[in-house]
Amino acid sequence: MTVENIKEISKIFDNIVTSLKKNHINNPDSEAKIIISSASGKKNFNFVSESDLNIDKINSILKKRLEGKPLAKIINQKGFWNDVFYTNENTLDPRADSEILVESILDDFSFMKTKKFNFIDLCSGTGCLGLSLLGELSSSHCLFIDISPEAIKVNKINSSQLNLDKRSKFLVSNLLSDPNLNLSNIEFIVSNPPYIKSSDIKNLNSETLHDPLLSLDGGADGCDFYRSIINQLNNIEFKGYLYLEIDPIVKDKVVNLVLENNANILYIKQDYLKNDRLIKITFL
Ligand SMILES: C[S@@+](CC[C@H](N)C(=O)[O-])C[C@H]1O[C@@H](n2cnc3c(N)ncnc32)[C@H](O)[C@@H]1O
Repeated sequence: MTVENIKEISKIFDNIVTSLKKNHINNPDSEAKIIISSASGKKNFNFVSESDLNIDKINSILKKRLEGKPLAKIINQKGFWNDVFYTNENTLDPRADSEILVESILDDFSFMKTKKFNFIDLCSGTGCLGLSLLGELSSSHCLFIDISPEAIKVNKINSSQLNLDKRSKFLVSNLLSDPNLNLSNIEFIVSNPPYIKSSDIKNLNSETLHDPLLSLDGGADGCDFYRSIINQLNNIEFKGYLYLEIDPIVKDKVVNLVLENNANILYIKQDYLKNDRLIKITFL
């Protein structure tokens, strides 16, 4: 890239950042980089040269962004852990908060890094949790479960784009209710279920409301899914570990559900913003 090119790109970058800031959009610098690289067909902003720039496309993305649509829903992509995931109107855009689940499971299972074993990503959406784990645990296999056939389609696209399809299986199911499901050889289940109280949905910020309601609504107290998952696993005396994403608002209720089922909490961890975000449970 010549100095001239850098000047041009940096001018466009500065203009985008200014517009985003004016509209009070968080992380304007990183969003500006994503807008430029995505419009230029490059994976990384650092690889964009002036000849790649597509000003019409940049303006079209920026216009939608300034109208309030989340960037991931405009460009149908969201970075998570080591990869970029396809996302659309049928899936929750992966959130950086959820990376603590991947990090913790990798810490716990580092001794299994090359061993063959099975796990489940329950309520899988884009598949960002299970696919990130498959990418790191090189001999593992994941069963992705979601009630939405459209979400499973997105999950399959991501699995195939990341060359993980040979170690991925997919099931459209209401949680673990499929009668053919055999959990006896499952080492762990990771799940980020919907956990917003139904009555709080209307108060969510307008960007979150671009995610499907099916991925957000956790019922009257936000705990419908935790209740079902914990009860189901307790009834069958599940021998593996359950890693659940939580929110500080539902934490106490989830802890009570675990205790009511005589299950055990192994740890609760916080995300990078210091919010309680993960609870690890055993049923033994
Ligand atoms: C909060 S999103 C999580 C998506 C993804 N795991 C992530 O962390 O980004 C919850 C997902 O649960 C799915 N879901 C909702 N109800 C379900 C049910 N009864 N059984 C299985 N999946 C369900 C939704 O379709 C959605 O994809």
